[in-house]
Amino acid sequence: MLPKRSVTLICGVSGSGKTTFAFRYLVNVQGVACRFIFDPDGEAAQRLDLPAAATARDLEEDLATGWVIYDPHAMFPGQLPQAFRFFCEWAYEAAGRGPGRKILLIDEVWKYCGPLTIPQELALCIQTGRKRGLETVFCTQRPNRLNEAITNEVSELVCFRLQGENAVRFVDSLAGRPLAAPEMALGSFLSLNLDSGADLRGKVF
Ligand SMILES: Nc1ncnc2c1ncn2[C@@H]1O[C@H](COP(=O)(O)OP(=O)(O)O)[C@@H](O)[C@H]1O
Ligand SMILES: [Mg+2]
Repeated sequence: MLPKRSVTLICGVSGSGKTTFAFRYLVNVQGVACRFIFDPDGEAAQRLDLPAAATARDLEEDLATGWVIYDPHAMFPGQLPQAFRFFCEWAYEAAGRGPGRKILLIDEVWKYCGPLTIPQELALCIQTGRKRGLETVFCTQRPNRLNEAITNEVSELVCFRLQGENAVRFVDSLAGRPLAAPEMALGSFLSLNLDSGADLRGKVF
C-alpha cells in the first residue's frame, strides 16, 4: 500500500518558531530511516550540532547515520539554484535505495520556488516521493508566495504568528477556516491536519 501523503507546511513570521519546530520534529520523530536537510546558511549544522556534508562522498557516508545536512557551497560555489536541484534529486534517489520513512526539510522554501516556478527535482520529491517513503517539510514566512505543487499537496499545516493580509488570507483558505492569528505569541502555533481535520495547539518556546 502507498504510504499516506505527508507534506508539512510551517508558516510564520521571522523569529516565530518555524525552524525550531522543524528541527524538534526531525529529532523526535520515531522510526525514520533518514532526514535530509538543505542547509546553505549552516543553521541546521549549528543548531543540531551535527556535521554537514560538503562532498558527494560525505553525502553517502552521512546517509547511514540517518542525518544528511547538506552544505552546498563547496560543490556549488555561488550557484544556489543548481545546488538545490542537485540535493533534491540526490535525496529522491537516496530515498529509493531502502525501506522506511525519510524526511526532506526545506527551510525558507520561498527562496527556491515561486507561484509560477518550482524546480522539477523538488516537485518530484513532493509528488512521487511517497512511493519511496519520502516525506517533505517546508518552512516559509511567505505562504502566499509558494507554488501550487506544494500548496495542493499539504497534509499538515502548522501556523505560527503571521503578518500581512495576503499571508493570513492564504493560510485561512488552505485551512478552510480561520487559522492564522496575527496576534499569536511568538513560539506558539496552531496545527491542522488537512486530511483528518484534527488540530493541535502548542508552543515551541
Ligand atoms: N542557534 C540557535 N540555537 C538555539 N536557539 C535558537 C538559535 N537561533 C534561534 N534560536 C531561538 O529560536 C528563536 C527563533 O525561532 P526560529 O525557530 O529560529 O524562528 P523562525 O525559523 O520562525 O525564524 C529565537 O528567538 C531563539 O530563541
Ligand atoms: Mg527559520
